[in-house]
Amino acid sequence: MHIKKAVFPAAGFGTRFLPATKAIPKEMLPLVDKPLIQYAVEEAKLSGLEEIIIVTGMGKTAIEDHFDTSFELEILLKERGKKELLKMMEEVSGLVHFAYTRQKKPLGLGHAIGITKNLINDEPFAVFLGDDIIDAKVPAMKQMLDVYARHKSSVLAVQRVARSQAHKYGMIKGEKVGPRVWRVTDLVEKPKLNPPSDLAIIGRYILTPGIFSALERTTPGSGGEIQLTDALKTLAKDEEIYAYEFEGRRYDAGDKLGFIQANISFALKRPELKKELKRFLKSLKL
Ligand code: UTP
Repeated sequence: MHIKKAVFPAAGFGTRFLPATKAIPKEMLPLVDKPLIQYAVEEAKLSGLEEIIIVTGMGKTAIEDHFDTSFELEILLKERGKKELLKMMEEVSGLVHFAYTRQKKPLGLGHAIGITKNLINDEPFAVFLGDDIIDAKVPAMKQMLDVYARHKSSVLAVQRVARSQAHKYGMIKGEKVGPRVWRVTDLVEKPKLNPPSDLAIIGRYILTPGIFSALERTTPGSGGEIQLTDALKTLAKDEEIYAYEFEGRRYDAGDKLGFIQANISFALKRPELKKELKRFLKSLKL
């Protein structure tokens, strides 16, 4: 079945970025000159997805405004002859079709996905966590859709992490079934000791609609939140789940260090910034 829809859970409080995220959604923090969430939206579009469902919450209206048409701004840019900027603005609002739903309380990532059930209509769908910025030749989600096309089952994006870092991730146990592809046999959320492998789940998923009934059967786990990993564990009992080690570099921009690394690395790709930024970094004599 052709996958058309993508869910973007964006209702978390972004506490790791306080006080910056007190009045501004984390998703709107700029990576060079584009808000974080726009990178993942562009990845979705380049992967052929047609409809984006953003799960928002309190204080997140800036996300809706960002992807809407800004009539006044466009008129002003037209009057001032700023053609390039005008084109950029029109491109943002015309990226794909957007729908919004609200999570009334931040009851967890699993809960945020669960509330999109009526908008998904019993189809497989993609999930993007906008904090994970993936720099890849072939968009990471496009790579995953190819794996989905072969297996017709849920696909989780994974990357290798040092075992000492496993406590920060959902970790999988799997059986290798092809280049970069595993059949998932177990999942453990943030293991403190003895992770089942070095394969960590990161913020890209393709899920079958079976996830909704698995989520309904999931009770709140750590932090009183409905954990997606717990629901995936349930789903793995009913259906096959695959993990795919994507090709590309991932930045955890939801974390201060990852955010700064992503900014430096994306700025170094910009012809207008590259030279001066390199000169500045060298001048730091680290
Ligand atoms: P995070 O664990 O990164 O939480 O959520 P957070 O609130 O965004 O950030 P910190 O940890 O407090 O700094 C992972 C993803 O799940 C979404 C978040 O918006 C983020 O995209 N999420 C999380 C929800 O949509 N609802 C929730 O209840 C929890």
